[in-house]
Formats: sequence, C-alpha cells, structure tokens
Amino acid sequence: PIRRITAPQIRAKKGGEPIVSLTSYHAHTAAIVDRYADFILVGDSLGMVMHGMDSTVGVTLDMMIAHGKAVVRGTKRALVVVDMPFGSYEESPGVAFRNAAKVMQDTQCQAVKLEGGARMAETIRFLVDRGVPVMAHIGLTPQSTNVMGGFKTQGRDEATWKHHIADAIAVAEAGAFAVVVEGVVEPLAREITRAVDIPTIGIGASADCDGQILVLEDMLGLNPKPPKFVKVYGALGGMIEQAVKDYADEVKSRAFPGEGQTYR
Ligand code: KIV
Ligand code: NA
Repeated sequence: PIRRITAPQIRAKKGGEPIVSLTSYHAHTAAIVDRYADFILVGDSLGMVMHGMDSTVGVTLDMMIAHGKAVVRGTKRALVVVDMPFGSYEESPGVAFRNAAKVMQDTQCQAVKLEGGARMAETIRFLVDRGVPVMAHIGLTPQSTNVMGGFKTQGRDEATWKHHIADAIAVAEAGAFAVVVEGVVEPLAREITRAVDIPTIGIGASADCDGQILVLEDMLGLNPKPPKFVKVYGALGGMIEQAVKDYADEVKSRAFPGEGQTYR
C-alpha cells in the first residue's frame, strides 16, 4: 500500500510548490480528492454542509468521528486531518489531549486541527509533545462566531495585524505543522506567511499563502450562496437537479426501470 503523506512532509513544503487541500466528509468524494490533494480536512463545516446547521458550534465529537472514519476508509494517500469541534479542546490541554487521542484512535486519522492562536499555544505544545500532530487555524475562526457577531473578514484595520501575526508565531513556536489562515486581507496573509516557518494554508486569504483549501461542496457548486473567496470549479448543483428531474420524469412515465435494470 502507498504510504500516506506525513505531517513533517507537509511542513517541509513551506515556501515550495503550493500545498493542495480540500475538505471531505464522505468516502466516495474523499477517494477522488485523495488522488490530487496533499491533505484532506474533515472540517467541522460538515455541520452546515452535511447537517444543515447555522454554524459549526453544534458539531459534536461523535459527528467528527463518524465522518473522519468514512474519509480515512475512503483514502490511502493524502494526510487526513480531522477538526476538533467546539467544546472538545478549549478547556485545558488535558481535555484536548483526551479528545484528540479519541479522534485519532477511532478514525485512524493522522492529525487534528483546532481554532485559536496564542491562546491555544500551550495546548498545541501539549498535544504535539504527546504524539498528536496539530494544524492550527487563525484569522477568521468560525467557532467564535457568537463572540464575533458573524463571519467577518479580518485585518481590514491595520492596527489588528500585530495580533494575527503574533497568533501565527505562537502556534508555529508551539509546534503546529501548518496553520490555516481564514478570511484575512491579502497584505496580512502575506505578512503572516513571511513571519512563520510553517506553511500557511489559505481560505479567503489570497494567493500569498503556502497552500490553499476550500470546502469541496462550495467549489463543486453545491452551495447556493457561496462566500466571495470561493471559485466554483464544477456545476454539480445543476447536474444533480437535472438528474433528479430526469429520474422523476422517467419513474412517472414508466421509462425507468428499463430492460437493462430488470431481472428476467
Ligand atoms: O471546517 C472547515 O471546513 C475548515 C476549513 C474551511 C479550513 O475549517
Ligand atoms: Na473548521
């Protein structure tokens, strides 16, 4: 079997050819992504995309584990990173380790991701020292939506840049192997990427990052109202609609099932 890409290999891509990544929550889509991505994120965005929630705050450890198992089973090459959901890691390094270890044992994923910069540095160090590779996530952190009052692009006010840059440096020094930078203006993304020796993975954070990630369903055209930073590479929404409509028409006209779908 092909050995999977490792966290140190992702880390070593700093400043090189851009790192390719997408989210996946599902075995069949993950198998396709696996052929092209360096890592696959089982993101807690699955709360919205798969389960119709308004934010990621309602996502549980059990949901992450169920989808994490599906993605690990469906893949063999890419590193699989599973998001730690809201409430599973913020309280203390010990609680974070216990839950991260459960995610890794139950899903067999190779790394976890958690949101937060300087405030999570102690926890990141605690996990990495105990065998859990950690991807950090700074800038716009969706699990904090109720404190921030929505999903807001970060860094429009230059006075805030020093905090974001300090967050990036703190997670890098704590041992994170990469850091997602979400929803920040281009010059801040550039400053953050320059400030750290680990790869920055951008989403809504310009081409200046060391890699990019998008939510798969967003780039496939399944989100009826995608954020500005999404580029739609495939019109799956329209294709699914047409297929469902054709099926409905054929069932009603008894054209389906036909000769080829019938046991004689
Ligand atoms: O949950 C998610 O999909 C994410 C990515 C967008 C980075 O955290
Ligand atoms: Na997430």
